[in-house]
Amino acid sequence: MKHDTIEQNIGLMGLLIVIVISFGGLAEIVPLFFLKDTTEPVENLKPYTALQLEGRDVYIKEGCHTCHSQMIRPFRSETERYGHYSVAGESVWEHPFLWGSKRTGPDLARVGGRYSDEWHRVHLLNPRDVVPESNMPAFTWLDDKMINAELTASKLKAFQIMGVPYSDEDIANAKASVNGKTELEAVVAYLQSLGHAIKDKR
Ligand code: HEC
Repeated sequence: MKHDTIEQNIGLMGLLIVIVISFGGLAEIVPLFFLKDTTEPVENLKPYTALQLEGRDVYIKEGCHTCHSQMIRPFRSETERYGHYSVAGESVWEHPFLWGSKRTGPDLARVGGRYSDEWHRVHLLNPRDVVPESNMPAFTWLDDKMINAELTASKLKAFQIMGVPYSDEDIANAKASVNGKTELEAVVAYLQSLGHAIKDKR
């Protein structure tokens, strides 16, 4: 019988299993490439400024994303705490996405504007100064390290190639706008930019 041939040949069976499973994947994934909701930016979305973009790189470099998600799920327990749930149109210019699923600390998708710049500065240098029970590590060195302004223009350029609407002027001004800034200033600018595209008046 034909079926015996498949069952006795693990390579063939594996191949056929992959084909069968991929149909499920195709049906779920392919339509997303053509849906406006998932491919077009939400109305108020703004590209990161040069300083915010550098701050995002600091965020990745320091591994903030290993403890903090940026993805509010559409559940009451989450929207009550963090604000409007995240939508795909907010992330179309994110390369790579920092959604995450591991939350040792709170979700940061809408942390922008929740605290002052000074609060973030103190919190990053020593979280216990503002949140006594915090077990977030202190990032004491962020204040001493400068952004490497030589690389900023090429980072914006790379994002431009990937479809983020940076003008040539933005790229030309990139170096000057981050020159002399610390990593701390950059990451605070980045945090303050998060989540404004969708306003959640509660
Ligand atoms: C080891 C896990 C861990 C890492 C790594 C980490 N955090 Fe946290 N973070 C926490 C925890 C836990 C809290 C909650 C307590 C507090 O507010 O300090 C928190 C809170 C925060 C808050 C306040 C959020 C709110 O809504 O109150 C911000 C902002 C934040 N972290 C930013 C960062 C940034 C930026 C980095 C990287 C430089 C980072 N965190 C790295 C665990 C972490």
